[in-house]
Amino acid sequence: MTKKLFVKTYGCQMNVYDSARMADVLAPLGYAPADGPEQADMVILNTCHIREKAAEKVFSELGRLKRLKAERDGAMIIAVAGCVAQAEGEEILRRAPFVDIVLGPQTYHRLPEMVAQAARAGGAVLDTEFPPEPKFDFLPGPQAGGAAAFLSVQEGCDKFCSFCVVPYTRGGEYSRPAAAVIDEARRLVDQGVVELTLLGQNVNAWHGEDGWGFGRLIRALAEIDGLKRIRYTTSHPRDMQDDLIAAHAEIDKLMPFLHLPVQSGSNRMLEAMNRRHDRDTYLRLVERLKAARPDLALSSDFIVGFPGETEADFADSLDLVRQVGFVQTYSFKYSARPGTPAAGLPNQIPEPVKEARLAELQDLLNEQTRRFNTACIGRVMPVLLDRPGRHPGQLIGRSPYMQSVHVDDIAARLGQVVDLRITELYPNSLAAVPADAERMRA
Ligand code: SAH
Ligand code: SF4
Ligand code: F3S
Repeated sequence: MTKKLFVKTYGCQMNVYDSARMADVLAPLGYAPADGPEQADMVILNTCHIREKAAEKVFSELGRLKRLKAERDGAMIIAVAGCVAQAEGEEILRRAPFVDIVLGPQTYHRLPEMVAQAARAGGAVLDTEFPPEPKFDFLPGPQAGGAAAFLSVQEGCDKFCSFCVVPYTRGGEYSRPAAAVIDEARRLVDQGVVELTLLGQNVNAWHGEDGWGFGRLIRALAEIDGLKRIRYTTSHPRDMQDDLIAAHAEIDKLMPFLHLPVQSGSNRMLEAMNRRHDRDTYLRLVERLKAARPDLALSSDFIVGFPGETEADFADSLDLVRQVGFVQTYSFKYSARPGTPAAGLPNQIPEPVKEARLAELQDLLNEQTRRFNTACIGRVMPVLLDRPGRHPGQLIGRSPYMQSVHVDDIAARLGQVVDLRITELYPNSLAAVPADAERMRA
């Protein structure tokens, strides 16, 4: 009998990948995807602990699920997975005793046992171990969901930035063996995937068994016939090795868009954040990357209102944004996380100050994004048309710079990379026409 599974994902792309893999793990038990929790026999919340707001969302969602489960006289399995599960463990079962399974990010290969155990025991199952065996060795082959796919190659973090929970929720740095990564990539390409995004909390800290660095892995993946584009995220400035920079110059398949979080433009803040590099080192790194790949565009993450951040520190961040010319950025108000060193620092910044700084930073970034998008009008870019648009015959795709591009009367080319000329700028997307149609008219 088929049962229905609904997985709701919070947080980063690694969680998106993990959610897909949890569905793969449960498929042999007869679970097929459901569109919402109302139709589901099992619901998994794959949670994020990075900021307080993200973590609190889980408990409000659990409130909704509690009612749904009661309406069905308890005939529903509720699982909480991911980083909140790892961080709070027992506390979740205390606050939400109707939850059946609590599992961390490193144990989801054991989900089938947990489901069986929950059914048998009638009590809750808690598994937030960091097992010695890597879960990746126990996962079934991946199911591609379209022309673009995520592939986790690295997990965890040993860097311990003073504000961040990830080293505690995900554990230490782990690199999957090159052979396993290449095999998973081939399986995805065999299913029609043309664009791969390699994932890791510090993806460029990846290293192979025989002294392979991340640049070497990218070179090996670029050899796969049928694979057209490679991206990676999230990278750390300290792990940007020479060979990886060289790969940006030499590997055409590597897209000219790089997310390179910096968090702050102030040396004082970078030090307090334990980022272990300064502003100049970052700027020099950006120069080297742009020298290797002149059409490279960069995006970043910023935190405003870190404890002790002065107006001058914040001005340094604004200045860095202008100097690098980031075309996109994710910026966040500092959120004090339990158990992290920064949570105990004096001079926590008042909420209204954080809000004002965030608004100012985002205004600047939106302006730079708009300027970059405007400069793309008239250019021809290869766009991966990976999903249908709102109108009949329309497709939407992603440019090399992850801009959303839509084009009409092109339904037959779903899943292909097509040269498009950008014609118009919309608030959240670009409009384009096929460049070959233009040539034919000419
Ligand atoms: N490994 C990546 C970041 C992973 S977390 C890196 O080193 O850059 C994603 C982003 O969340 C971070 O880049 C940071 O900007 C933000 N973040 C992490 N902890 C935070 C906190 N306590 N408060 C606000 N933002 C935070
Ligand atoms: Fe968090 Fe820093 Fe590790 Fe990134 S490098 S995951 S910000 S501790
Ligand atoms: Fe959130 Fe965990 Fe990712 S805390 S950002 S889901 S690694």
